[in-house]
Amino acid sequence: MKKIALIFGLLFCFTTTFSQQNEIDRKVEELLQKMTLEEKIGQLNQYSGDSEATGPITINPNKQSEIKNGLLGSMLNVKTVEHTQQFQELAMQSRLKIPLLFGLDVVHGYKTTFPIPLAEAASWDLEAIELSARVAAVETSASGIHWTFAPMVDISRDPRWGRVMEGAGEDTYLGSKIAYARVKGFQGNQLGDTDAVMACVKHFAAYGAAVGGRDYNSVDMSYRMLWETFLPPFKAALDAGAATFMNSFNDLNGIPATGNTYLQRDILKGKWNFKGFVVSDWGSIGEMIAHGYSKDSKEAALQAITAGSDMDMESNAYRNNLVELVKVNKVSLDVIDDAVRRILYKKFELGLFDDPFKFSNPERQKAALTNLEHTKAARAIASKSIVLLKNEKNILPLSKETKTIAFIGPMVKPKRINHGFWSIDLKDVDSTYIVSQWEGLERKVGKNTKLLYAKGCSVEGTDKSGFKEAIAVAKKADVVILSIGEAFNMSGEAKSRSTIQLPGVQEDLIKELQKTGKPIVILINAGRPLVFNWTAENMPTIVYTWWLGSEAGNAIADILFGDYNPSGKLPMTFPRTEGQIPIYYNHFNTGRPAIGEDKIYKSAYIDLPNSPQFPFGFGLSYTTFQYSDLKLSTQKIKSSEAIEVSFKLTNSGKFEGEEVVQLYLRDKVGCVVRPIKELKDFEKVKLAIGETKTITFIIDKSKLSFYNDKLEYISEAGEFDLMIGSSSEDIRLISNFELVQ
Ligand code: NOJ
Repeated sequence: MKKIALIFGLLFCFTTTFSQQNEIDRKVEELLQKMTLEEKIGQLNQYSGDSEATGPITINPNKQSEIKNGLLGSMLNVKTVEHTQQFQELAMQSRLKIPLLFGLDVVHGYKTTFPIPLAEAASWDLEAIELSARVAAVETSASGIHWTFAPMVDISRDPRWGRVMEGAGEDTYLGSKIAYARVKGFQGNQLGDTDAVMACVKHFAAYGAAVGGRDYNSVDMSYRMLWETFLPPFKAALDAGAATFMNSFNDLNGIPATGNTYLQRDILKGKWNFKGFVVSDWGSIGEMIAHGYSKDSKEAALQAITAGSDMDMESNAYRNNLVELVKVNKVSLDVIDDAVRRILYKKFELGLFDDPFKFSNPERQKAALTNLEHTKAARAIASKSIVLLKNEKNILPLSKETKTIAFIGPMVKPKRINHGFWSIDLKDVDSTYIVSQWEGLERKVGKNTKLLYAKGCSVEGTDKSGFKEAIAVAKKADVVILSIGEAFNMSGEAKSRSTIQLPGVQEDLIKELQKTGKPIVILINAGRPLVFNWTAENMPTIVYTWWLGSEAGNAIADILFGDYNPSGKLPMTFPRTEGQIPIYYNHFNTGRPAIGEDKIYKSAYIDLPNSPQFPFGFGLSYTTFQYSDLKLSTQKIKSSEAIEVSFKLTNSGKFEGEEVVQLYLRDKVGCVVRPIKELKDFEKVKLAIGETKTITFIIDKSKLSFYNDKLEYISEAGEFDLMIGSSSEDIRLISNFELVQ
């Protein structure tokens, strides 16, 4: 009976969605019939709204009159109910009253700022990540904005690239899961709900592989690598229902992504059947001239629209050229209509034709921006994002009864610094809601604890004049907490660094403080993996905090005093020096692997081990976990079958805690060489002291398949190594199995 009800239920949902789609298609066609060519092309045009720009300043024509004349489809960088309403009112004065779409880079929160995405990825907590995007959507949508330019799902193996802070790190499997969770979070139950925003998956594609880690640089890679490593997170985001895609600045194998037919028409709109629309990146259509791919703006417009870029962000290339290109039959009306349809469809789906102001609601905005549940969610994921790198002497967690604590460093007192690069500066909201690291500590410790402060030094520069005070303060304390790192604007867009060492004299300050003999806890704040070898080798207690957002202070205090037991794991490999980059755990073995100390004629550096400073998947806890009793339901499967893998995980330490258990596989021999290990599953498991749980993973064909050199997705008969561990290097259980065809 239940089954029949379920089938009818599903059928009902399916037919309702189907008829809604038909209805929207009909409305789109009706509207399209009424539109002039100029109005159609206007829909493909997007300008930046408010004074601040998120790219090189462009001289736009008079925005207001363009909107009133129905010649603009969308704006970015317009924030708040007040501003979105102002612009939408202008659109309502146009002949066909087609509402504007408002987009914004809500990358890690709107007012409530969440950890930078790379930090959130370190939580390996998909529910928390989805919630973070959900909260961002609630706050964003209540402010009249319909669309976020997120999630950024670019895989990157190069921490010099400043934009690693925006993504989920180096791993395709983890990145795909996170991409899916973020889209679900942003888009909520369905587009059209007033608490949902359209996601924009970016940057399509391969932007994270910019040569030398230099932003906007070229990308040259095999299509096999593109399909196997870089595309899956995009596909996962699409499977989650992502409404829009953004293309990327880079060229890929010689063709700029914005003018790349293979990426946009063949893969995205062809093979993947994507029904939403593609927006260019800021000015990326015009930039095809500098790439040397287009001779002028007219040719750029022709190439971009032909290749499948539907909306032009800030290039003015469509606005200035498409009418003429259609008139001289270089661009067919069908191509224009297809792009316009995709954009109008989303406007209908959002319900903007019924009520263009439905998202701009002052009461909802106020409620959303003062919701304490949002603060709680931000604090929870911020704690989960922190990675404990070293705790050799078990200095952590600190006692709340510690008599005197010296809190030193350039990151201790500032507030906004914790927000990281893509945070949103809402001019009329003061910063009292942001919890500085100092405030977090102050709130945490008991009345009898004395807190001392010294800045010590700035993030950058050579000035050591503050060292004396810092040393004096440290000498008076029972324990020193030193908060250092890179400035929040040293990672992010256009923030590539050729050296990723701790900037300025901060490591010198550590060395001086070490001489006091006091126990020292180092907090490292950064938007990327940094290189800090001396510290890593000489200091026993290191906590990597990234940029944690508005609840940074509380989250850090929760970790330091054990109110939350660290559970974060690195989503990117930490190199020993920049010379090791690109460095990633899932590399090939090569024909001459360097094993142990043997480097003679081996794939090694003569001056450095191949191993990283901290590996992918690594992170400590205040407790310890035992892995045991690995069982495989079978050690031989056909490709239509699956193996059930189970093992026991026990909390063998003295604190309740969470462990991220990681399943890696190695395909031992392939028709193309396979990585030495690949993450294929994981689970974040919470255990009380002494508790044991049985964890189960299922291995089926989907975990054993890969792209061959003809770009076919295949699985092959052969042997696989199975590894279960606490990081990509800390493997605790091993076995193997065979796939027979
Ligand atoms: C350029 C960035 O690459 C992109 O990610 C962002 O969405 C746009 N600027 C708009 O700010």
